[in-house]
Amino acid sequence: MQFTRRSFIKATSASVFLPAIVGRAWAAEAGAPLPIPDVMDLASGTKGELAAQLGSSQMVQGRMTETAGYSQSYLGPVIRVKRGETARLTLGNSIAEPISVHWHGMHIEGAQDGGPHTPVNPNETREAVLDIDQPAASLWYHSHIMERTGAHVWYGLAGMLLVDDPDAADSGLPSTYGEDDIPLVVQDRIFGSNGELVYSPRGPSLMHGYRGEEILVNGAIRPEATVPAGMVRFRILNGSNARIYHFHFEDGRSFQQVGTDGGLLPEAAPMNVLTLSPAERAEIVVDFSDGAAVRLLSGEDTNAMMGGMMGGGGGGMMGSSGSADSNTNGAFEIMSFAVNAGLTPKVTAAPGVLAGAPVPDFGEPVRRRAFRLEMAGGMMRMMSGGGGMRINGASMDMGVINEQATLGETEIWEISADEMQHPFHVHGTSFQVITQYGKPVDAAKIGLKDVVLVDGKTEILVRFDRTADAATPYMYHCHILEHEDAGMMGQFTVA
Ligand code: C2O
Ligand code: CU
Ligand code: CU
Repeated sequence: MQFTRRSFIKATSASVFLPAIVGRAWAAEAGAPLPIPDVMDLASGTKGELAAQLGSSQMVQGRMTETAGYSQSYLGPVIRVKRGETARLTLGNSIAEPISVHWHGMHIEGAQDGGPHTPVNPNETREAVLDIDQPAASLWYHSHIMERTGAHVWYGLAGMLLVDDPDAADSGLPSTYGEDDIPLVVQDRIFGSNGELVYSPRGPSLMHGYRGEEILVNGAIRPEATVPAGMVRFRILNGSNARIYHFHFEDGRSFQQVGTDGGLLPEAAPMNVLTLSPAERAEIVVDFSDGAAVRLLSGEDTNAMMGGMMGGGGGGMMGSSGSADSNTNGAFEIMSFAVNAGLTPKVTAAPGVLAGAPVPDFGEPVRRRAFRLEMAGGMMRMMSGGGGMRINGASMDMGVINEQATLGETEIWEISADEMQHPFHVHGTSFQVITQYGKPVDAAKIGLKDVVLVDGKTEILVRFDRTADAATPYMYHCHILEHEDAGMMGQFTVA
């Protein structure tokens, strides 16, 4: 492994966050073709099977990496379901510890939500019966076991799930899967000297969240996608445990955001930089009609505990991957795109008003609840062995129901985070963001969400239209998985 002086310094200063990278016997080379996940289509009553398994994956050159996946070696298939139908799957598990399949972003009752109360134990099965009634959206699924979610997702127990709505008006967006409608699961990972995945959050990497030094998209290191010279839609999932991305193209081109966590936006929003915190999704449309190859980059993740010893230094660990150019200000490569002029583009018109977008109607709120996200004891507490991650003074306890909501009632949830930014997630519904950083925001521009990055104070409008009883409650939590696993999570019923 070669270092320029600059990147060596970066790698050295980053080593407070990461194990030192020495003596690698493998190469992390960019440019492998982007893997397009297989589709498991559960429309029209087709029953699916999804089994957690261990596997072996070719990620770095010259080494095989032990991984986990759902019915494949790493990650899981893209599951497609249709609004108005019931999707059925048999969930299995050949791994030696309990896993679960949580349907992140789905509006389904607590009993089917797949949280820690409904594990799939080793060599057992569980039937999933999912009544699909929500707008078309790009969702995902992942394991969600107490204190193990971070490790499970890191090793690969995650996949995307797309809801299609046959009754929604056609928005004219690119929709040929794998050609001009492409899922991108973006993750950062650490590989050890034998190519093995390394997951050991403690001290600062527990406190700030565990971030990797190599970028994987759909399981391949900084891959290359070949696209037609027209409009291409990407459904991007930040599937990382902790890293916040600031996606932008190397040539500065603008692109259109057309969808968010809970479905399409009413109108395409042009932008040059897209920020996605862990578990957030965005659908974007990119114009490749000029035929130029381009790289997708991300700005540094600077989310770190304020006033802590490491203040302001949360990012900057990309130095050893060879992907951080000295002239890009800490930006690093996510993947690249090559345009094949031989492919006929199916869509050439830029998106505008999106006819199929959901029209949210939350009604008047009848109640307000406050959620304080706390890193109690701060740095010193975390350095001496973790714990201390709380919401309203309490760490997650599966035996305690923290909140009780009423079916069909609209509430305002006020979430505050003073020490660092936290991506706050609520199960069982999509919500609307009404204030950010203490200021009102334009809900139509933000769209329906199930994760919101909280910095200071955020208010959301939320309503639950499915039930969750005390045996299988919903969760709310920080989606920095190390924070969730350390207790920054609570649970609630809906009746
Ligand atoms: Cu993405 Cu409680 O989960
Ligand atoms: Cu969830
Ligand atoms: Cu957090």
